[in-house]
Amino acid sequence: MAYQDFNMDNHWLPFTPNRSFRKDPRVFVAADGMYFTTHDGKKVIDGISAMWCTGAGHNRKPINEAVKRQVDTLDYATAFQATNDKAARAAQMIAALAPADLNKVLFCNSGSEAADTAMKVALAYHRARGEGHRNVFIGREKGYHGVGFGGMSVGGMTANRKVFGASLLPRVDHLRFIHDPVHHAYYNGTEPEWEEDILLELENRILPLHDASNVAAVIVEPVAGSAGWYAPPKGYLKRLREICDKHGILLIFDEVITGFGRLGKPFASDYYGVVPDMLTFAKCVTNGVIPLGGVICRDRLYDEMMKTSAPEHVIEFFHGYTYSGHPVACAAAIATLELLQQEHLFARAGEMGKLLGNAMHGALKGLPNVIGIRALGLAAAVELAPMAGLPGKRAYEIFIDCFHRGSLVRPAGDVLVLAPPFIVEKEHIDTLVNTLADSIKRHA
Ligand SMILES: Cc1ncc(COP(=O)(O)O)c(C=O)c1O
Repeated sequence: MAYQDFNMDNHWLPFTPNRSFRKDPRVFVAADGMYFTTHDGKKVIDGISAMWCTGAGHNRKPINEAVKRQVDTLDYATAFQATNDKAARAAQMIAALAPADLNKVLFCNSGSEAADTAMKVALAYHRARGEGHRNVFIGREKGYHGVGFGGMSVGGMTANRKVFGASLLPRVDHLRFIHDPVHHAYYNGTEPEWEEDILLELENRILPLHDASNVAAVIVEPVAGSAGWYAPPKGYLKRLREICDKHGILLIFDEVITGFGRLGKPFASDYYGVVPDMLTFAKCVTNGVIPLGGVICRDRLYDEMMKTSAPEHVIEFFHGYTYSGHPVACAAAIATLELLQQEHLFARAGEMGKLLGNAMHGALKGLPNVIGIRALGLAAAVELAPMAGLPGKRAYEIFIDCFHRGSLVRPAGDVLVLAPPFIVEKEHIDTLVNTLADSIKRHA
């Protein structure tokens, strides 16, 4: 099948340089295990779990079968004033997997919706407690929480924000970014140990500025994913938890990327031993097969919202999506969670992550323009010096080159990220890393 056989005139691609894409399109038509097949019959290794989604690899029969069965049994049912058996079961399984009393699951369809949903829960919860004045949110520079107005506002990706300035939420502040390119440009499975306490600014500047009593929630990705895989300094998340507790502020972990195994544990919350008040998820929960996202809330948030003095026929939380807890998506989630556990894929992600980190450091350190390599869990990033006056161009060209050589990697600014499915084998890691190394050399 040639590119000319498609009519591409109508498809405006998201987060894609469309002009460049149309000259050299990348069109997938099939996938199996670790590989995609393109429209012109090429095999491409999936080095990024199809954007952090396909932890169990592609074309997994138990998930496919569950989806087919569900479509034939209950194709859809309204999510409001009723539910379906698969949504209840999926919520039960997710709550059982989540740490501590993160037990109440609100479903939505994406990571963006999950971030906005969590922010709305925070506002509603504080109001239910008589603290409706708590309406300031604190995110972090370079954070990514999707593209809704809430998530975009607490997010800290400049390019995603600059065009939408006046429409961003007003009462939002941002923590400093968690990268020190001088002392911690390179790390491999370890937590960078900073001498400086970068959360002092939260205690000493940001909270006093807004008055801590006005702050609803802090939202962070435990590991900054979309920006290019940056781990927090050692002890950072624990200290963040303590500061939030001290001031009655809710802590939200956006685990859209780290949830369901990326760090070798079910959640980053498990990896770091820190329990947030809300945890957002999407992507790997259905292995990417059907869109599904959600927010897992601690019991006390739900309990507080149920204490309302309103009569019982009145809705407690005016929020939801037509497709919240869609039965087909939830059937996919149930099958995915079973598969991840049956095949011990969380532990496998942790083990294969060590190979990936070692391969990245072994093959890329010292190559031209390489200024940092960061590996944690089953994801690793190489940071490149930008071309003068053309930020992002070097990584973009390397990404295209790798694709032509059969490896899908992810450019993020001048960072290239690998985050393969948990079923990855050593030979795939070697191919991905060697392809990346060759390409970096050719683009010196
Ligand atoms: C941490 C994080 N939050 C939110 C999102 C947004 O998810 P979605 O694209 O499903 O809306 C993403 C997407 O990559 C993400 O990485």
